[in-house]
Amino acid sequence: MFYGTEENNHGHQYDPFKAVVAPRPIGWISSISASGVVNLAPYSFFNAMSDNPHYVVFGSSGRKDSITNIVETGEFVCNMATWELREQMNQSSAAVEAGVDEFELAGLEKADSVLVKPPRVAASPVGLECKYVKTVDLPGHDNAAGGYAIVVGQVIGVYIDDKFIEDGRVNTAAMQPIMRMGYSEYTVVKEAFRMRRPE
Ligand SMILES: Cc1cc2nc3c(=O)[nH]c(=O)nc-3n(C[C@H](O)[C@H](O)[C@H](O)COP(=O)(O)O)c2cc1C
Repeated sequence: MFYGTEENNHGHQYDPFKAVVAPRPIGWISSISASGVVNLAPYSFFNAMSDNPHYVVFGSSGRKDSITNIVETGEFVCNMATWELREQMNQSSAAVEAGVDEFELAGLEKADSVLVKPPRVAASPVGLECKYVKTVDLPGHDNAAGGYAIVVGQVIGVYIDDKFIEDGRVNTAAMQPIMRMGYSEYTVVKEAFRMRRPE
């Protein structure tokens, strides 16, 4: 099949786009509002963009609580969503009032971050502590105002649970990160293979 995305006539119930840009890592973003309410939500339009400095991005469909908080208070944490935490991750995506702390909603413990104010998910093996860099508002079709914005953060601190570090390397597969595909599909990373770049 082929479809042009201006018309978006893919002929199916759902647009296949997200099913083919897959799997996508999930940035499980914790932030704090100016009034001190803690927030947690998953974002699968998420990735690392560079490693010197260390930049991450996530895409928000509209001005949700995470982006509002991050712009207001300038910090956030990207927690890793894992197989063990899949139900809590899903619960934290509920569309609730800004005053609701999704850690409490999902029954998750907080752990203090080292360099930023928002807490990390205590049970998650990874927490990327970020300072807010900028928001890029994306144009919609025909250059009209789009509903999407990309938040760029600089990772200033990296927490990794020591139990996943073996012989100086992170055993990512042992963390069992879950990744988003299309529709309501996910996958879980359980194994890795190695391939060296050509000389
Ligand atoms: C696995 C998963 C991935 C998601 N990815 C995104 C995303 O990339 N962008 C987005 O705007 N919403 C995404 N959502 C929906 C948000 O998590 C949801 O709207 C949430 O309520 C936003 O919370 P907030 O208002 O506290 O930021 C995703 C939901 C799930 C379950």
